[in-house]
Amino acid sequence: MKEIYLDNGATTPPSSEVIQSILQVVKKDYGNPSSLHRKGMQAEEYIKQTSEEIAKWLKVTPKEVYYTSGGTESNNLAILGVANAYVRSGKHLITTQIEHPSVLEPFKKLEEQGYEVTYLPVNQQGYIDLETLKQAIRPDTILVSIMHINNEVGTIQPIDKIGSIIKKINPSTLFHVDAVQSFGKSIIYPKRWNIDLLSISGHKIHGPKGIGVLYIAKDIKIEPLVYGGGQQNGLRSGTENMIGIAGLYPAVKNAYENLKDHVSHMVQLKKYLVNELKAKVENISIHGPKLEEGAPHIINLGFKDIRGEVLLHALEDKKIYVSTGSACSSHKSTKSSTLQALGLSDEEILSSIRISFSPYTTREDIEICIAEMQQIIPLLRKFVPGGKK
Ligand SMILES: Cc1ncc(COP(=O)(O)O)c(C=O)c1O
Repeated sequence: MKEIYLDNGATTPPSSEVIQSILQVVKKDYGNPSSLHRKGMQAEEYIKQTSEEIAKWLKVTPKEVYYTSGGTESNNLAILGVANAYVRSGKHLITTQIEHPSVLEPFKKLEEQGYEVTYLPVNQQGYIDLETLKQAIRPDTILVSIMHINNEVGTIQPIDKIGSIIKKINPSTLFHVDAVQSFGKSIIYPKRWNIDLLSISGHKIHGPKGIGVLYIAKDIKIEPLVYGGGQQNGLRSGTENMIGIAGLYPAVKNAYENLKDHVSHMVQLKKYLVNELKAKVENISIHGPKLEEGAPHIINLGFKDIRGEVLLHALEDKKIYVSTGSACSSHKSTKSSTLQALGLSDEEILSSIRISFSPYTTREDIEICIAEMQQIIPLLRKFVPGGKK
């Protein structure tokens, strides 16, 4: 039985170029970039190459690229780092109700420390209301943090418009964007879009786990979370994760050099899956944005009278891997706060699964998935009193 991996929003398998690059650093080019000898300089070259590649696609400078252990640390560093550095300018912060826990949890921590946080609501499709945002920005607002692509339902916020609204109302308010789900799947221009800080993660784009990036615009002050040898301008001490940095380079290069093709391939697969399922299986709903508006790689579907978890395991028996809600926190049994914010009922939330694609997902993978669902779903509904097929 073929393994069909449709949980690419959780993580992606490293590509062969990424593995090659990692092996080179593990086996041969193992130097510490802080060392003064040749081995150190060689390691520094890897950092330079990856930073230049990222900077090229974001249209920023390599010096504005900082390495972290992943999206979680990038989000924490951006939020806590700004809050601590700008506390004298104000203690008001803005975010949304549908952020990843690695954004919401630092904000909760800051609330405990006396900061005031406004959590913007979203509509049924997961969009924030720009008027509500405008009204929320105050003279003492030091940071607005809004994700680009939502990891559970794939809503794409209009980051360029949001950036210009923020700066028009309060030019000193900083703008952080969690781009973990959009980097490598979308064009992002931090400078043009007024983004001051941008979080990226390697393992969502076929790179290694444990490597992330925080873009920090020049002149933005950040209070470090980690102190030590003063690496990376003192903003993030500790010997750089060379395996991660070396592996990230081919992942970024491949994602952006083939962006158009990758996106159109994933969009086609997503539309094919949904249209076929709708034609072949009754009572399916899309949670979040309209099919043609959402992220290319994420779709959240509701299956009436079926528990998402049960469907997930039934598919797993066929070696098809999907997820319920967000994988990063799905070992917890709490209901998705994102789906709650979209106004879905408990019933609807429990009946949902997320299917997420990669550029390497094939049409055949989706055909198999559809065929299996067509078999499984009526069977599962048979056991529900009054359940529809
Ligand atoms: C939107 C978003 N932000 C942050 C993260 C955390 O990234 P990492 O797993 O690299 O810590 C994730 C992971 O799923 C995510 O989807």
